[in-house]
Amino acid sequence: MAALANRTLPWSWYTDPAVLQLERERIFRRSWQYVGHVGDVPEPASFFATSVGDIPVVVVRDREDELRAFLNVCRHRGSIVCEGSGRRETLQCPYHAWTYGLDGRLVTAPRSKREGGIETGELGLVPLRLDTWGPLLFVNADLDAEPLEQFLDGLPERIAGAGVDLDALRFLQRSESELDCNWKVSAENFLECYHCPTAHPGFSAVMDVNPDHYLLETSATRMTQHGPPRAVPHGAYDPTGEVGRGQFHLLFPGTVLNVMPGRPNLSIGPIVPKNAERTSRFLDYFVAEDADEAWVEEALAFDAQVGIEDRTLVERVQVGIRTGLIDDGRLLPESEQLIAHFQALIVDALA
Ligand code: FES
Ligand SMILES: [Fe+2]
Repeated sequence: MAALANRTLPWSWYTDPAVLQLERERIFRRSWQYVGHVGDVPEPASFFATSVGDIPVVVVRDREDELRAFLNVCRHRGSIVCEGSGRRETLQCPYHAWTYGLDGRLVTAPRSKREGGIETGELGLVPLRLDTWGPLLFVNADLDAEPLEQFLDGLPERIAGAGVDLDALRFLQRSESELDCNWKVSAENFLECYHCPTAHPGFSAVMDVNPDHYLLETSATRMTQHGPPRAVPHGAYDPTGEVGRGQFHLLFPGTVLNVMPGRPNLSIGPIVPKNAERTSRFLDYFVAEDADEAWVEEALAFDAQVGIEDRTLVERVQVGIRTGLIDDGRLLPESEQLIAHFQALIVDALA
């Protein structure tokens, strides 16, 4: 497809299961995604099951304290091996009890000695890439992917420079949600604050969303928005503290990372397609150890309100583009430049 100019992607790409299948193969199977934090695997022999895109993943801290990720699929007949989280000495498949070590090796397969024909030495869980940024865990199903550090593209320095020491934060909670829209509708809504004055009155009473102050930047696979609070913020959230500016990043394809002005804080989580018209998300919230509870409650409520407002917006968009009577939409060249960048990455990947 030629340059998009100021046109959006074809709206059929937001409903077509064949497009989603291509996105899964060409984007989600080759991309880094945030999956959780070290507190989810706090001690040797702890694990949690998760997914990267539609790929089931199990993350393990082995006996030697090494973090590993595997495809959470049994080499026998393909069952999911682990569910939930907890502590385990081995990873045993619930179907026929093939049992894997925490290093992924197949340790036992019942009756395989008696009957033969099973190459137990070769049938370990398939390893995936796992890397960490401070306490944050990222997984990539592509063993040849660029290193995480390269993917993060200076973000760790930027977050540290803003006054957020990741290792000094405490985990607060995970918020999970499902949205009736294509995953790109959710990502694109995140990528512009053009809608903030209209649709987020509370957010816009605290943050300065004037386009002269609220700035947009792109790099290869990172799309960034950052801005200060209003000179006289008046709203349901107190943005005063060590962190002077808000910053909101999307790491392609779908990991979002937010820092609000105020006490040191961070929220991070993926936008993941469930099907062509349904999206699941979660956000892990972290905050300074000594942030007082009243402020934390206020911050969570403030963010939840923005989330409620965004749900309505994206679900309405999905209803509109699903009609099939309009080919595509338009993008403002400046205020929606991050969406144009995101859509160009999609076009490149699917070309
Ligand atoms: S599918 Fe896992 S043991 Fe049979
Ligand atoms: Fe929004």
